[in-house]
Formats: sequence, structure tokens, C-alpha cells
Amino acid sequence: MTQSHSSWQYDESKPVGRDYGSESEADIYDASHADFRDIKAESNRVLDTLAIKQGATILDFGSGTGTFAIEAARRGARVHAIDVSRSMLARAKSKADQEGVSGIEFHNAGFLTYEHPESSADAIVTTFAFHHLPDFWKGISLKRIYRMLKPGGQFYIHDVIIEESGSLENIALFINQQKEAGGAFLRDDAEGHFRDEYSTYDWVIDGLLSRAGFSVINKHIDGGVIGTYLCRKN
Ligand SMILES: C[S@@+](CC[C@H](N)C(=O)[O-])C[C@H]1O[C@@H](n2cnc3c(N)ncnc32)[C@H](O)[C@@H]1O
Repeated sequence: MTQSHSSWQYDESKPVGRDYGSESEADIYDASHADFRDIKAESNRVLDTLAIKQGATILDFGSGTGTFAIEAARRGARVHAIDVSRSMLARAKSKADQEGVSGIEFHNAGFLTYEHPESSADAIVTTFAFHHLPDFWKGISLKRIYRMLKPGGQFYIHDVIIEESGSLENIALFINQQKEAGGAFLRDDAEGHFRDEYSTYDWVIDGLLSRAGFSVINKHIDGGVIGTYLCRKN
């Protein structure tokens, strides 16, 4: 489900930085990310943290090639995989089919346009996608996410989120780590991230979460640049 929007609303269907709308990006995504992360293991750790039960409703915003959605569906969750990129969704669908996993609904929409019944999701997850929105629109999106969750529902966000202290040094270190993990491709990817995309300070994210109504249960910023928050709807 998507909503129609006014002409001044941020157009989240237009790529910022990397063009995940292109088929070539979808083709290389899993292999290039395997150089620095194990998305399947990460997804299962997130599902353990959320203690997802059979039949729970989970939304994944910016679901990409679907690894998290597939692992959640394997555990019997009802999953909504939401992404603005048709190419990424197509890749996710074909992976789910190949792995014989059902129980996922795929939606070509995003943080600002996906519609879901109020107070009906048990958990909402987003990994490495929230930084595609400028900060004002992050705030709007968090209020939408808050409304979709059941009272007590959980929101998990993992993304490039930057601590103020030592920020420039930490970014340089991170870019160097990425270069060591995946050569020029991951170096350019990380450089483009900080130059062209909308990752922001953790204190901005803290404020936006709190103003949307969330309680932060757990927060960790790895190396000053990779943030993980577990939040609850009050
Ligand atoms: C770096 S990938 C992350 C994919 C996956 N979540 C992961 O952890 O590997 C970012 C994804 O977010 C999607 N995306 C970008 N802007 C979005 C928006 N406004 N709403 C939903 N998805 C968006 C992109 O199409 C892309 O598939």
C-alpha cells in the first residue's frame, strides 16, 4: 500500500548516492557486502534480540535483497519487505523463491509512502537504509513507524550514525577499514556514503526517536560511526 503525496514531499523514490534502483547494483549487492558483513548471521542476531515469535508481524524498511525478511519468515513471522527499488525487491523475491521461503509480502514503497494499519506491527527493523532520508524526513518517518507499531512494539535501527567526538577521524578510520576489507570498491562506497548521503549525528537520532515517542532500550555506536538502537513504543 502506498499513499499519494504532495508535490513538496521529499521524493524517496529518487536514489541518493548509490543507485539501488539499477539492476547491476542489485546483482552485486550480496557479494560486495559479504566482504565486510555476514548479513544472514546479523539478521538472526537481530531476530534473537527481538525475540520474535511465530506469527509476529515484522516490517523491514529498505529490505534490499531480502536476507533479513527471509530469515524472519523462516521463523514463522509475517513479514513485510518494503523497498523503493524494484530491482532490489525482484532480487529479494527470487532469493525467497529459491530458498523455498514463503510468508513475505513485498511492497514497492518507502519510509514516507508505505501505509500500514495503525498499532498492528510487533516489530519494525531497518538496516543501512535510514540514512537515505534527510533529517527532517527522518523525523516524519519515525512518527509514521511509531504509529504502525503496537504499544510495546520494538523498533530496531542499524546504520551509519556518527558520534560527534572524533567524528572526522573515525570516518577516516572506517573508510580505511572498508578499503582493507573490500579494496577500491568498498573504499569508494564508504567515501560516497559520507559525501553524498544523509548519515547524521547520534544526538540527532536520539532527539528524533524521543520526539517520535520512543524509549531507547539499548544504544551502541561501533567505532564512532556504526549505530545500533533498540527502541520501544511507549
Ligand atoms: C544499503 S541497502 C540496505 C539493504 C538491507 N537492509 C541490508 O541491510 O543489507 C539500502 C536499501 O534501502 C533502500 N531505500 C533507499 N531509500 C529508501 C526509502 N526511502 N524507503 C525504503 N527503502 C529505501 C534502497 O533501495 C536499498 O535497497
